[in-house]
Amino acid sequence: MKIAFIGGGAMGEAMIRGILAKKVALPQDMVVSDVSAVRREWLNKEYGVSTLDDNRKAAENADLIVLAVKPQNLRQVADDLKSPSPGQLVLSILAGGTLSNLCRDFNHSSVVRAAPNMPAQIGQGITVWSATAETSDEHKELSQAVLGALGKEIYVADEKYLDMATALGGSGAAYVFLFIEAFIDAGVHVGLPRHIAHEVVLQTVIGSACSVEKMAKHPAELKNMVTSPGGTTTEALLQLEKGAFRYHLIEAVAAAHGKAQRL
Ligand SMILES: NC(=O)c1ccc[n+]([C@@H]2O[C@H](COP(=O)([O-])OP(=O)(O)OC[C@H]3O[C@@H](n4cnc5c(N)ncnc54)[C@H](OP(=O)(O)O)[C@@H]3O)[C@@H](O)[C@H]2O)c1
Repeated sequence: MKIAFIGGGAMGEAMIRGILAKKVALPQDMVVSDVSAVRREWLNKEYGVSTLDDNRKAAENADLIVLAVKPQNLRQVADDLKSPSPGQLVLSILAGGTLSNLCRDFNHSSVVRAAPNMPAQIGQGITVWSATAETSDEHKELSQAVLGALGKEIYVADEKYLDMATALGGSGAAYVFLFIEAFIDAGVHVGLPRHIAHEVVLQTVIGSACSVEKMAKHPAELKNMVTSPGGTTTEALLQLEKGAFRYHLIEAVAAAHGKAQRL
C-alpha cells in the first residue's frame, strides 16, 4: 500500500510517525510532497520517507492520498490533483470542507473526511471521520488503520457529527489547556510554588481522566466520592456552580459548533 502525503507539517509528520510506530506502512511506502524544502529534508532524514515538491507526481502511484495542508492551500492542491484515478482514496484532515465540496473540488467520489485533534501529534488524539457512500469497505479499513495511528478513531456514517466532534474534541483541547493554565494559577494564588502547582494539576487531570476511563463509573459518581459533607471540595464546587461553570462550557461548545457549521 502506497501513501502520499500532500503537506508534511505538524499533522502530516504525526501521521507518518504513528504509521511507522504501528507498522501500518514502511518508510519506502510513503512519499511526502511539501512546498517547504526544510520540511522535506527533515522528513526524509528523520523517517526515511521520500519527498517531492510536486503534488501531482507524489500522488500518481498512491493508493491513499492524504491531504494535510492548511485549508487556505486546498484550492491549489485540488488544481494540482484534479481527478485522481478511480482506485485511489482521498483522505482529508483539513478543518472544514464537506465531503460534497471535496468530491466537487477533486472531481472524485472515494473520499474520507476526518476531524483529528491536536494531541494526535503525540499519538493521543481522537479522530472522528466519515466517508462518501462510494468509498469501499477496503478503503474504509485503510482509513481506520491510518487514522488509528493518531490515537483513537470513531467512524460516523452521518457527516453532521464531524462539526460537533470538532467543537468538542478539536477545539476542546484548547479548553482543557486553558483549564490547566488557570488551575495552575489558582495553585500559585493560594501559595504553592509554580513548579509544584504544575505537577499537582497535571497529575490530577491525567489521574482523573484515567479514573473515568478505568473505574467505569459516571463522572458524577466519581465527583461525589471526592466530595465529603461540609468539606473543602463542596466549598470549591459551590464557587464553580455560582460562576455557572457547566453553563459556560455548554455555551462554549455550542458556539464552536455554530462556527464550524458556518466555515
Ligand atoms: N495542527 C493541529 O493540531 C490540527 C488538528 C486538527 C486538524 N488539523 C488540520 O490539519 C491540517 C494540517 O495542519 P498542520 O498543523 O499540519 O499544518 P502545517 O504544519 O502548516 O502543515 C502544512 C504543510 O503543508 C505545506 N504546504 C502549503 N501549501 C502547500 C501546497 N500547495 N502543496 C504542498 N504542501 C503545502 C506547508 O508549507 P508552508 O508552511 O511553507 O506553507 C506546511 O509544511 C490543517 O488543514 C488543519 O486544519 C490540524
